[in-house]
Amino acid sequence: MKKVTVRFTNNSKKRFYQIFIDSGLIKKITSIINVNSYSKIFVITDHNVKKLYHDKILSSLPNKVITIVLPSGEKEKNIVNIQKIWAAMHAAQCDRKSLIINLGGGVISDMGGFAASTFMRGVNFINIPTTLLSQVDASVGGKTGIDFDGIKNLIGTFNQPQAVIADIQTLTTLPKREFLSGFAEIIKHGLIRDKKYFEKITSKSPFEFTQDEIKDIILKSCHIKADIIKNDETENNSRRILNFGHTIGHAIESHCLETSLPLLHGEAISIGMLAEAEISHYMNLLTVSDLKLIRKVLINAELPVFASGLQTEKIIKTINSDKKTEKGIVNFTLLSGIGNALFNQHVPIDLISKVIESITKKSL
Ligand SMILES: NC(=O)c1ccc[n+]([C@@H]2O[C@H](COP(=O)([O-])OP(=O)(O)OC[C@H]3O[C@@H](n4cnc5c(N)ncnc54)[C@H](O)[C@@H]3O)[C@@H](O)[C@H]2O)c1
Ligand SMILES: [Zn+2]
Repeated sequence: MKKVTVRFTNNSKKRFYQIFIDSGLIKKITSIINVNSYSKIFVITDHNVKKLYHDKILSSLPNKVITIVLPSGEKEKNIVNIQKIWAAMHAAQCDRKSLIINLGGGVISDMGGFAASTFMRGVNFINIPTTLLSQVDASVGGKTGIDFDGIKNLIGTFNQPQAVIADIQTLTTLPKREFLSGFAEIIKHGLIRDKKYFEKITSKSPFEFTQDEIKDIILKSCHIKADIIKNDETENNSRRILNFGHTIGHAIESHCLETSLPLLHGEAISIGMLAEAEISHYMNLLTVSDLKLIRKVLINAELPVFASGLQTEKIIKTINSDKKTEKGIVNFTLLSGIGNALFNQHVPIDLISKVIESITKKSL
C-alpha cells in the first residue's frame, strides 16, 4: 500500500491526514480507520456507485451504517441534494461523534464533504474516491461545495477529510470517458508543476498504462497536490496554480450543463487548459512549440480542445462572476513553460474574448 501525507495549517495548528492508495482497500477500511470510535457511520454515495460497491463496503463495516443515496451527475451537485443529506442525517440522529464516508466520484466527495462541514458545524468525514478524477484530485485538499446560480462551486467550505482511501480496483468499472476525464487533471499536474511527470504521463495513450503505472500516477499526482496545498490551505495565493484551465473550463462546464451534450469536468478543463495556454502564449509567457505540444497531448489523450456552439458573451459573463475574480479583475493562472505556472495573472478582456471566440467557433 502506498501512502501520501497531506500537511496543512489550520487555525495556526499544524495538522495532517493520509491518502492510502492500493487495490482492494474498500475491504480493508477497518484496518485503516478505527470505525468503532464513532457513534454512527453514514455512507453517502450515488446510484451507480451503490450498485457496484455498496455491498462490498457494508461487508467491511460494523452494523451501525446508514446509507444516503443520491442521483448521479454534476447537475445533482446542488442545494436540493444537500438538504436531502442534512434531512437524512437528522432523521438518523447523526451527532458530532458520527463519521461520514463519501463513496463515489468528485460530485459525492464535494457534496458529502460540504454536508459534513455544515451539519452541526462539522462532523468528521473520510473520502473513498471511486473515479480516477477524484483519486488524483477531487478527494484531496479539502475543497467541498456545490454549484449555485449557474456558477461552479459557488457555495462551499475548506474542510479536510480524516483520511482518503483510494481503492484502484474501483477504476476497473469506470466508463472510458470518465477515465479520460480524470487524465485531464493528471496532465494539469504535470503542466503546472513537473515537466518530467508531464513527459511520462503523455508518453503513451492513457489506456496503455498498466495498473501499477496508474497506481504510481495517482501517487505522484497526490504528492503534487499535497505539496501545493501545504502552504496555502485556503487558496490565498500559491494554491491558485491548481486552477490552471479552470477559469475558462468552469465557465464552459457550467454552460454545457444547460445543453443536451454536457461535458464532463475533465473535458471542460481540457478545453480550458488549451485556451489558457493560448492566453499564456499571447502574453509572451509560453512558446509556440510548447503550445502546440499541449494541444497535441490533449488530443492524443482523446480529450476535447474546442467547445463549438457556445456563446462567447455568456462565457465571458460567467468568467467575470468566477470566485477567482477580485475587485472586478479576473485572476488567471498561466503557464510560463511546461512544468511552471504563474498565478494572479491579469489578462486584458479583449484577449480573453479573442481566445474564447476561437475555441467556441472552431471544430475538429
Ligand atoms: N474539491 C476539489 O478539489 C475538486 C477537484 C476537482 C474536481 N472536483 C469536482 O469533482 C466533480 C467531478 O468528479 P468526477 O469526475 O469524479 O464525477 P462524478 O462524481 O460525477 O463521477 C462520474 C460518474 O462516474 C460514476 N462512477 C463513479 N465511480 C465509478 C466507478 N468506480 N465505476 C463506474 N462508475 C462510477 C458516477 O456515478 C458518475 O456517473 C466536479 O463537480 C468537480 O467540480 C472537485
Ligand atoms: Zn478540476
